[in-house]
Amino acid sequence: MRTSFITLVVAAIGAVNAHPLKRDGGVDDATVLNFALTLEHLENAFYSQALAKYDAAAFEKAGFRSWVRERFQQVGEHEAAHVQFLSGALGDKATQPCTYDFPHDDPKSFAAFSQILEGVGVSAYTGAAQYITDKSYLTAAASVLATEARHASWVASTVNGGSGWSGALDVPLTLDTVYTLAASFIKSCPSTNPALPVKAFPAVSFGDHPKPGSMASVTFTATTDASTQLYAVFFTGLSQLVSPIHDGKTMIPAELRGTVYAVVSTNDTIATDGTIVAGPAIINIDFNAEGNLIN
Ligand SMILES: *[C@@H]1O[C@H](CO)[C@@H](O)[C@H](O)[C@H]1NC(C)=O
Repeated sequence: MRTSFITLVVAAIGAVNAHPLKRDGGVDDATVLNFALTLEHLENAFYSQALAKYDAAAFEKAGFRSWVRERFQQVGEHEAAHVQFLSGALGDKATQPCTYDFPHDDPKSFAAFSQILEGVGVSAYTGAAQYITDKSYLTAAASVLATEARHASWVASTVNGGSGWSGALDVPLTLDTVYTLAASFIKSCPSTNPALPVKAFPAVSFGDHPKPGSMASVTFTATTDASTQLYAVFFTGLSQLVSPIHDGKTMIPAELRGTVYAVVSTNDTIATDGTIVAGPAIINIDFNAEGNLIN
């Protein structure tokens, strides 16, 4: 069953090497697939390492039903399948796994981090879609995206007891913002890996529990001139909400719900890879079935 699915998708993707489609900024289809493969390697390592570390008894002790770990095993198998078919499509251009450092030390923190990782995966595929020129790759990428979104919803709702979605629309993340989030968990990569046209921004924090409708401290290492007015930009659905930063503080927009990605931008209306000076930070704003904030 699994083998035939992989074969099908590899056939759909075809041989990337045969048609290098150069785009502005040097993002061709092979580059996008290698970017996706970079994330899939990370996810694959995350599940295989964590499930090797936490056995059924550990999950039970953490309060999870026995099938939760078994479902996580299926999720891990999906990530391994994604690695296999992207690697197959890229042939000898395929980027290899790195070594990683993930922030969890028990099944609970593993499940919390899984929710973050699956969400970033969904936003990465959503944001990268615009760079894919070959429609069969686009179909394959959409197919992976749909599965990652199911993982994200299952972990967020069934496992972690929250909302399975943020709202009507999901956030598309740019290549650099995705890479920034992934790079913080990558320790080192084989020197033979193809260089990707991406960069990581400095980290930013909006404090412990930023609350919609309240002021929050914005902490980051400024690389801009001190006189430059900076803005906090909050990615929610397809919108970007902007709040000016004054004296290291900003107003968290009251309407934010669910998973929000927040950056510091030099622009007063948008954040692009060209205007971001720090971030993204991932802000999770829990809300109940009525749409109201939880605590
Ligand atoms: C922000 O970006 C918009 C659109 O690119 C541009 O028109 C505007 O001048 C920029 N504003 C600043 C403050 O850089």
